[in-house]
Formats: sequence, C-alpha cells, structure tokens
Amino acid sequence: MNDIFETIKQVAFEIDNAIKTSDLGYSDSENSSGEDQLKLDVQSDIIIEKAFASVASVKALVSEEKEGVLELSQTGKYTVCYDPLDGSSLVDVNLSVGSIFGIYEGELEGKNLVASAYVVYGPRIELVIATRESAPKLYRVIGSEFRYISEIKMNEKGKLNASGGTQQNWCDYHKIFIDDLFQEGYRLRYSGGMVPDLHQIMLKGGGLFSYPATSDKPNGKLRQLFEVIPFALMYEQAGGQAINHKGLRLLELVPSHPHDTSPCFFGSNYEITALREAYGMKA
Ligand code: AHG
Repeated sequence: MNDIFETIKQVAFEIDNAIKTSDLGYSDSENSSGEDQLKLDVQSDIIIEKAFASVASVKALVSEEKEGVLELSQTGKYTVCYDPLDGSSLVDVNLSVGSIFGIYEGELEGKNLVASAYVVYGPRIELVIATRESAPKLYRVIGSEFRYISEIKMNEKGKLNASGGTQQNWCDYHKIFIDDLFQEGYRLRYSGGMVPDLHQIMLKGGGLFSYPATSDKPNGKLRQLFEVIPFALMYEQAGGQAINHKGLRLLELVPSHPHDTSPCFFGSNYEITALREAYGMKA
C-alpha cells in the first residue's frame, strides 16, 4: 500500500496549493448527496482522480463528490474511497479542512477496510495513516516533505466534547447525555469540520465527537465509506472506540449504497461507556 500512501502525500501538496490559490465560488453542479459543489471540491476531486489513475495497486475509486465506482484496473487490489475536501464550506472563513481516504480490499464494507488516512490543511499540513496492525502515525510537512512525528495514542478519558447536528433536532436522551458531559467539566470544541475536530480530540488525548441521529437526519449526516469507517479505524487503533447509535462498531457497518450515512460517535473509552449507558445500549 506504500504507493497509495505516497500518492496521498503528493495530492496533499496539490490540494493545499489549490486551497490557497483557487476560486472559492460554487460550481454549477451538485454532488451525489444533493449538496452544491464548490469549485474547490471539484478541483480536489480531479487532483485525486488523476493522481491515482496510474497507481498499480488501485483497482477502483469512489469519490464523495461523484456517483458510482470508477474502475481503474483489473489487476489492482484496493478500492480507495475518498472525500477530497471535507468541510470545504469552511475555507471561505479560513478554518482548517481535510481530505479523507478509506482503503478497502474486497466488498465496500467496514470489515474490509485495511487502512485509512487523512490530511489536515491548517496552519500546518498534517497526515495521519492508520492500518489494522499499528497505532495511527502522524506526519507533518516540514520544509518540502512529510516527516514522521509520532504514533497517536488516546487516554482512557478526555476533556473535549464536539457535538454535531442541529441541537433543536436532538432527541431528549442525547441532549441529557451531552449536557451531563458539560456538567462533568467537558469543554466544547466544534469547528464544523470533522477532520480537524476528530484530529484535535485524538491529539489532545481524548474526548467525544458525536454526530447523532436527529429528527431531520435520522441516519446522521456523515458518510460511511468516506468519513465514518475510515475514522473508526483511526480511533480504534489509537485505543479509543467508534460506534453508532445502536452500539454497533462503525467498523462493522455494511453500506447498501456508496453514499449511505450513519449516526456516529468517536471517543475514548470513558465517554463511549457513558454514551452506552445514556442510550441504554448493551455493553
Ligand atoms: P461540508 O463538507 O459540507 O462542509 O460538511 C462538513 C461535515 C463534517 O466535516 C462536519 O463534521 C459536519 O459536516 C458538520 O455538520 P453540522 O454543521 O451539521 O454539525
């Protein structure tokens, strides 16, 4: 998979350059989830598609910005599912954004995710890579290249609470659970970009990121293949947990469509145990 990780490093530089120099307006199209596409979303998608077209181990690509699967080669082993620029609506207010990659072998479902990676475009460019075999590894651009910094390990309990979705549409037990965390001393950290929000919680030792089922979005907002499942591997390999609203590990999700979403909760062990109790889930 090294060729895939090297390609991700290459596209990170190109997308970072596009973020810093390109037109921030809307394109004339919508993505598969019916959202208006920014020109930057489209441009980032093209950068990734072009770069992976010649990577021998890649069989197919699935983009958050496009419908369907793009077959690349009969002999490739992996399908790369990616969100080229998550949180792109934050670029115009100059907040951090990211790219997310899930590398699957076989059918596109959680158990077949073999590795994941994400890039954070912030004051610095950082890359995190997780495999089934090791803790997530953090890399940072220093000078003109990515340098390995450290492994990421979460504590048993954190201090941060990133709670997504429209509060008006939360169910009562979710409201109570989130309030209880604040009563315990947790502090709110939520930018509206899942990449920097989840990155912050992992690097600061722990806490909870939630995007629950809401009355307007009963299946949540975040997409399983491109967002939820890749980050689930990160959190589990860092010593945390990642589950849905029914207590199922997100790494066991089986999407029936590439753009299916899921309610999702990522956290360290203490917060996920508290969530299970508050939601009445079986341990
Ligand atoms: P977008 O790419 O359309 O800006 O969406 C970002 C995603 C995700 O990154 C973030 O966690 C979530 O949407 C935030 O949604 P809410 O504003 O509904 O909390």
